[in-house]
Amino acid sequence: MNQKKEAWGTRVGLILAMAGNAVGFGNFLRFPVQAIQNGGGAFIIPYLVSFVMLGLPLLFIEWSIGRYGGTFGYHSTPFMMQSMDRRRLWKYVGVFGLFSNIGIAAYYCYMESWTLAYIFHSVIGTFTGMDQQQVVQVFSDYVSLDKATLIPFEPIVFFLLCLILNIYILSRGLSGGVEKVAKIGMPMLIGFGLILAIRAITLQSGHDGAINGGSVGLNFLWTPQFDSVYNPKVWFAAASQVFFTLSLGMGSIHAYSSYLRKKDDIALNAMSAGWMNEFVEVVLGGAIIIPIAVGYLGIEKVTELAGLGGLGLGFKTLPFLFNQWGSALATVAGVMWFGLLFFAGITSSLAMGVPVQGFLQDEFKWGRNKSAIAFGVIILLLGLPTVLFFNQGVFDEYDYWTGSFALFVFAAAEAILFAWFFGIKKGWREINAGADIKVSNFFKIMIAYVTPVLLIIVFLGAVFTPTHNDWVGAFNSLMAGNGWLFDHGSLVGKMLNTELKEQIAAATDPVVIADLKYKMLLANLTKLLLLGLFVSISLVVRKAFYKRKKEGRWES
Ligand code: PHE
Repeated sequence: MNQKKEAWGTRVGLILAMAGNAVGFGNFLRFPVQAIQNGGGAFIIPYLVSFVMLGLPLLFIEWSIGRYGGTFGYHSTPFMMQSMDRRRLWKYVGVFGLFSNIGIAAYYCYMESWTLAYIFHSVIGTFTGMDQQQVVQVFSDYVSLDKATLIPFEPIVFFLLCLILNIYILSRGLSGGVEKVAKIGMPMLIGFGLILAIRAITLQSGHDGAINGGSVGLNFLWTPQFDSVYNPKVWFAAASQVFFTLSLGMGSIHAYSSYLRKKDDIALNAMSAGWMNEFVEVVLGGAIIIPIAVGYLGIEKVTELAGLGGLGLGFKTLPFLFNQWGSALATVAGVMWFGLLFFAGITSSLAMGVPVQGFLQDEFKWGRNKSAIAFGVIILLLGLPTVLFFNQGVFDEYDYWTGSFALFVFAAAEAILFAWFFGIKKGWREINAGADIKVSNFFKIMIAYVTPVLLIIVFLGAVFTPTHNDWVGAFNSLMAGNGWLFDHGSLVGKMLNTELKEQIAAATDPVVIADLKYKMLLANLTKLLLLGLFVSISLVVRKAFYKRKKEGRWES
């Protein structure tokens, strides 16, 4: 298929698309839940420090790698990385930039399909008159698949619909598809977000059935607790949140940036998109779920729900809370909230498709349509396990390996590549080439020394996190010859399913034990599946490399 080279249409379009890439469920669902789980005000200092020391430097790094790789005609990370340092290993490090996007899209698109379903249910009034328990039940039934719903196989129907939408938009290309959706979606999202945030913070206790004013939730989030600085667990949570929300360590920023021209600014663009994401996250994302949920349910109840509900919190609570505003307003609020989530979701899932599409186009000369369909089919196949076995924890397993672990590895590797192999001197020149702002030398020092070292520390911390984050206790245990005490949430704990094992050991009911064992089997199969995905992508990349060499297209 013969087609024009992909490019961004306008600068505003590019910035909105990049902001849309970053703004996603991370901002509206993950951020509030992380903040609540980590003690509200305890979270905010580590979060903001991580944003400045890791987030901003990595944004500069990723935008630069992308534009640099793009000048050689690479639109996904494997060959971009190898073009910065000739060692062949780098292209396999770059495999992470395809792996994460595919792995994340597989569960992210499922979540995106919930927003479509919830818009539909808000419109037809499913939640009208329901109490909190019933609203939670709607969600549990929905993800259980076998429970009676309005439409047979409803979750699968919406999942397919969502994939078809993504494929269609991707097949329209960059400026005709992705950029257009961002130009429409981002302003709508910000508009809906502002309305809901204002409604939330002006909530008054005693009105509309609220027990607290909206300010109680805001104070909970914004009263800084300085002792949190000593808690490594909060730091990991904050750093992961910064990565996830800014789409760092995933390879999708690189892909978007690779469609820039050599002389195009990246410094100001990266800052604009990055700060826009932070506005949407800490201002809008922080002012909807927390104030509304705390306003009606109180901090304690919300903390409990956040522990259980995770990303589902916004689905399990808000439709009920909106009901307190009367049925007409509840419908409007529901459509705005789930509409906002839909736009947040789709502008991100498209960003996961672009690198995959770019890779197939670069290496195998596939056209837009064929590569968009290929992405859709891969996501359908890999997404189905998360749909079918949601309650057995498969969704969370995907989230951990592709949406958290892989990001740390890739971010650490690219920071090292950029600062120490490509070299900070060349790197700094890249960042400043065509720049419309003067980038402070602070970032040069960060990128050259601080960010790579911090990333290594954070990564090692994630591997070796001890139980209850008690590092001293774990060292003592090691010294006493009792071995290191790994936390369930550490990499080793996840790898060995320590949490499930502990639950199995503690259980007595044979039915419960069988159920837990089934979960463990699925957890292990999921790990194998994801490992298989990584290996398969590596093999394809290897094949592409030899193809390039044979055709004399390998120079950098
Ligand atoms: N940053 C997005 C969010 O906050 C997630 C994302 C992941 C986007 C991977 C692109 C690629 O939800």
